[in-house]
Amino acid sequence: MKLFIDTGSVAEVEELASWGVLSGATTNPSLLAKEEGDPGDIVRRICELVGGPVSAEVVSDRAEGMVEEGRALAGLHPHVVVKVPFSQAGLAATRELTDAGLRVNMTLVFSAAQALLAAEAGATYISCFMGRLDDIGVDSTAVVAEIVAALRPAGVTSQVLAASLRHPMHTVTAARLGCEVATAPGKVLRQMLVHPLTEAGIERFGDDWRARPEFGTWLEGLVDSSKVALS
Ligand code: E4P
Repeated sequence: MKLFIDTGSVAEVEELASWGVLSGATTNPSLLAKEEGDPGDIVRRICELVGGPVSAEVVSDRAEGMVEEGRALAGLHPHVVVKVPFSQAGLAATRELTDAGLRVNMTLVFSAAQALLAAEAGATYISCFMGRLDDIGVDSTAVVAEIVAALRPAGVTSQVLAASLRHPMHTVTAARLGCEVATAPGKVLRQMLVHPLTEAGIERFGDDWRARPEFGTWLEGLVDSSKVALS
């Protein structure tokens, strides 16, 4: 499963892209509205930083407007994927945009029935919002499992993108269920780093090594000689 970052913050993408684990990013109007500066510059910069698909969302409620906005957003950078909210108009716009060769992330999908329609409209990504389902007492695991199960036998090539992730277990669940992508906010990605045994293990290895200062000297020498060999 590929990991995307869900953010409108260039600084956050700069920090997390350096981990080497991000394959793309998703933005939405709410996330971009929190940021200072030109939204186009932000989207372009995120595209450069992640070097992969970056979703930028249309806001029109008419198919024609969505198509116009989608074409314009796609013109910002070759990595831009047009994010289109699920609706009748969104389906029509998705069909037109995908027929024109653009990639669409159909968002705000909350059921297998909606996912089947999004797939037929040609969406490259189908975003199911796990956190928002859990918020209203609907089991997001069951919904995502149903979406994956409904699309796979149909031979659909659309990728299921787990979104609205609120904690690391949402990400793990998405992977176990067979989602192709999960997009997580920086906070969740940082939480995924943490395990007390990892921290304790690193500390103990360091302490044991430092108890033998001559080993430190040996390793420094090894590093220096490997640099010489490479130069
Ligand atoms: C995904 O593409 C959306 O931007 C996002 O995951 C929404 O998350 P939220 O429900 O936390 O706003």
